[in-house]
Formats: sequence, structure tokens, C-alpha cells
Amino acid sequence: MTATAPQVSVNPAAGGDTFVPEDDSVWYGETAALAGFLVAHYPMDEGCRRIVTGALAHIDRFYATRRTENIRGETIPVTASPISGDEGRALLQLAIENGVRRSLEIGFSFGMSTSHLLVANHVVGGEGHTAIDPFQLSDYYQGAGLKNIYNQNLGSRFGWIAGLSNVVLPSLLERGQRFDLVFIDGSHLFSDTFIDAYYAYQLTPVGGLIVFDDKYLAAVRTVMNILRTNFGCVDYPYHRAKDFGVMVKTEKHRLDWTKFDTEFAPFSVAT
Ligand SMILES: C[S@@+](CC[C@H](N)C(=O)[O-])C[C@H]1O[C@@H](n2cnc3c(N)ncnc32)[C@H](O)[C@@H]1O
Repeated sequence: MTATAPQVSVNPAAGGDTFVPEDDSVWYGETAALAGFLVAHYPMDEGCRRIVTGALAHIDRFYATRRTENIRGETIPVTASPISGDEGRALLQLAIENGVRRSLEIGFSFGMSTSHLLVANHVVGGEGHTAIDPFQLSDYYQGAGLKNIYNQNLGSRFGWIAGLSNVVLPSLLERGQRFDLVFIDGSHLFSDTFIDAYYAYQLTPVGGLIVFDDKYLAAVRTVMNILRTNFGCVDYPYHRAKDFGVMVKTEKHRLDWTKFDTEFAPFSVAT
């Protein structure tokens, strides 16, 4: 299921319209209350309920302690910058309210965006989530992302591809894979971000969501400008996570390569 901006769409897992509370504070409040809300409003079997509740509690501990386990089970400090707890919940909300069944992310790290997208996948009864990252087993991350997914029992719907995104993304396209939501949080160099966005665009259906982290970076905002001007993407009206840029793929992009001399729209470069 995919998004059609600006509406919130139907969640097939819920067998009808997604329940969207008037006040979204439940998403950002106490963990047990959020777990209770999800269990009450989305049909899940007992196994899924346990996973969702346990994973949310595990995520809470990660942010509270800023410590995590590496692949060998040793406790290590969280040295890099995962998305914040609120951003994770924003991603969770976005994926659930849009009934995202298949998601992809670039940038696995300690596995926090991964955990939230996997929880969402369990809630909507989706088909799975894939993360691309070549550095998971490096000295830096020490397999902590994998360990977090394992400790939360989220592994059954998860696939990790160890490779640079500019190599992996075209291979996913070639294999005919499609994703309702792509989260871009890998290398933040302009060139890599553009390549990630280019393939995210190819890999999502019309109505699919492309979510950028770190919109504060000029490189990211410039890539978003290119998607708006030359790819026909529109902004999804989304204000919960200030540093996320959320875009929707629309029907507009029908560029004809035989008219390459006219099929180009200037775009502004952010500074
Ligand atoms: C900011 S972290 C991602 C944080 C993660 N999304 C989270 O919230 O927990 C950036 C990640 O991108 C990965 N990365 C850097 N360059 C990459 C590339 N070219 N392809 C795929 N991943 C890359 C790094 O290994 C790192 O794990």
C-alpha cells in the first residue's frame, strides 16, 4: 500500500481505513500506551503483539542508556548518531498510517530506523524490510544493528544487504523489487544522496514515499529540489520530524528521453 499525498491512506492489514486518532500524541508518549494503542487498533496475532511490545521496550532502553550490544554480545557505547527516538516514532507512524508493506533503507548503523520500520511491518502485516549498508560488521558498528534486530525478535521479516548503495540499488531494480517506502540515510555526500534518490524513485510505485533524513544538509535539500523539479515528486505534508524530508512519487514524471534537449527543469541549489 502506498501513500497518495496529502491523504493518509488505507491500511489493508486493518481491513479498512487506518485508524488515525485526531491527536497524534499517543505516538510520542509512553511506550506501554503506544504498544497498547497499536495492539488495540491493528489486527495482530499473539506472536506479533509480543514482538511489537517487546521491540518498543527494547528501543526505549537503547535511547535511555545510549548503550547497545555488539554481535558478540558485549556492551558498547552508541558512538554514531542514529535517528532520534522521536524521529523513529515519526517513521513508525508514517509507515503504519500509510500501510507500508515493503520498505527499504540505506544506512543500517545501530539499527534504530530499521527497528522502527520492522515494528511497523509487523503492525500492518507487511512483507518485510531491507537495509543496505556495507559497514555493519566494521569496527565502528561491530554488528550492533544485527544484534539489535536479533534481540528484538524482528529478524523474520528482515534482510540486510552488505554493499554500497550505488551497487546494490540497481541490482534490486534489475530483480524487479519494489518498495512502498524508501528511507535514505546512508552516505550524505551529494553524489551518493542523488544516486540513492534516483534509485529510490525507480524502486517505488506511484504514491510511494521517499524519506530523507538530515534535511538540514544543503546536499539533501538540493536532491529534494531535483526530485520536485525533474521527477514530479511532491512534498508529503509532514511536520513531526523536522529533519525529515518526505516526498511522494506522482504520475507527473513522464520525461521523454528523445526530447532530452527540452526535458530539463532548472532547480535551485541549496546553500
Ligand atoms: C547516519 S548512519 C544511519 C543511521 C540509521 N539510519 C539509524 O537511524 O539507526 C549512516 C549509515 O550509512 C552507512 N553508509 C555510508 N555510506 C554508505 C553507502 N555508500 N551505501 C550504504 N550505506 C552507507 C554507514 O555505514 C552508516 O551505517
